[in-house]
Amino acid sequence: MKTILIKDILVSKPDGRAITIYGWVRTKRETKNLVFVQVNDGSCFASIQATLDRDKGISAETEAELKRVTTGASVMIEGSLVPSPASGQAVEVEVRSLTVLGEAPADTYPLQKKNHSFEFLREIAHLRARTNTFAAVARMRSQMAYAVHVFFQERGFAYVHTPIITASDCEGAGEMFQVTTLDLERVARDGAQAIARGEPGVDFSKDFFGKPANLTVSGQLEAETYATALSRVYTFGPTFRAENSNTTRHLAEFWMIEPEVAFNRLSENMDLAEEFVKHLLTWALERCAEDMKFFDERIQPGLIETLKAVASADFARITYTEAVAELEKNKDAFEFKPFWGCDMQSEHERYLTEKVYKRPVIVTDYPKEIKAFYMKMNPDGKTVRAMDVLVPGLGELIGGSEREEDLEVLTARITELGLDPADYWWYLDLRRFGTVPHAGFGLGFERLLLYVTGMGNIRDVIPFPRAPKLADF
Ligand code: 4AD
Ligand code: MG
Repeated sequence: MKTILIKDILVSKPDGRAITIYGWVRTKRETKNLVFVQVNDGSCFASIQATLDRDKGISAETEAELKRVTTGASVMIEGSLVPSPASGQAVEVEVRSLTVLGEAPADTYPLQKKNHSFEFLREIAHLRARTNTFAAVARMRSQMAYAVHVFFQERGFAYVHTPIITASDCEGAGEMFQVTTLDLERVARDGAQAIARGEPGVDFSKDFFGKPANLTVSGQLEAETYATALSRVYTFGPTFRAENSNTTRHLAEFWMIEPEVAFNRLSENMDLAEEFVKHLLTWALERCAEDMKFFDERIQPGLIETLKAVASADFARITYTEAVAELEKNKDAFEFKPFWGCDMQSEHERYLTEKVYKRPVIVTDYPKEIKAFYMKMNPDGKTVRAMDVLVPGLGELIGGSEREEDLEVLTARITELGLDPADYWWYLDLRRFGTVPHAGFGLGFERLLLYVTGMGNIRDVIPFPRAPKLADF
């Protein structure tokens, strides 16, 4: 590598040694004889100050270059690393020479010093990582991904890559993006004629895969195949949902972490989820202290205290039936009136976590009608061994369950939901041969990032968000 990162320079001894720094200019400030240039390379929150002293002499070349130094310009600076007389920084660079690598003209560069709205920055998502907020989010995203792998690798889980293109709908919600190489204009033309002749409009045998295919909504079904061979596995990859939800917590493309564990039941699944969330929060607090301080001060005051409390307190655990009873006590508080059998709305989830329990809540044993086919049936025949982890300020962070391991019960469930067991032959084989109890869950990575950064919109915690009518960059 050609460069030393500014994060490493800032913690070095200011012993006067020669140093070269590279980065982008945040600000340039001039007094009569002194010029201060703040340079940031994104390796950490802080910038380094480069100081030029005209009393000590500046070369004609550097003087000429200084005229081209504006916010956003890229520079190479040579000088010595010295103690900084300014407060808030231990070291600075006493400049010997400064070279502008690339100008950023003040009249056209969109990121000037003033604070821009997140809405505006979304429109220039290719440049927004150069702001304090988005650089901090990007570093946090990377750290959280690292923490995910550490958590599972330290506990004997194998990382499994599940396919992005599939022919099954794991969640059964029908919210899938179709993958096809058929010429849609031709399909429309010829399909209309076929339908008029009483034939199917689309001949999928002519499509790339010979049948309808889609982008995966979840890697779970394939993860189960590896869990019933390697015992403990996890996936971590992109998932896609064509939900037409224009909310601050939904994306059409988001990343999900899905652990799947053989021999685990619902209670161990809850323990794992709780331990996992606490691990991630602790990691953010301990390893990302500088960025967390920024989020706490500028994005969501009190964030650090909140996360510390969550990382150390037990999550509440209640059944769906208990949750509904709790909500019914206060029906008037809700736009959507709760009743047994209803799908919980975000207002209900927030009420439970923020008003009743004041901490994360794991809700279990939901009515089978509102959950997916693979969840294990309870003896009551009405509820399934599902669990959702709800957190204050956000709602659902995790969804999971114990899986139905009984071949007959699972086949009956698939049929009952109008699905064809033949399409799930390989999934049913896991129950046909050496079936075991097993359980898992999915954590939405961007929801986690919303939670740890205190950011308000999920479109601001992924580099290039995909949502209805939004696929730029
Ligand atoms: O609750 P979900 O739909 O569960 C599953 O997909 C299961 N197959 C997981 C499993 O048991 N292995 O989704 C899991 C999580 C949600 O709790 C939420 O955090 C996130 O994924 N999520 C979304 N995040 C962003 N945008 C969306 N459209 C999301 N839909 C779900
Ligand atoms: Mg869910």
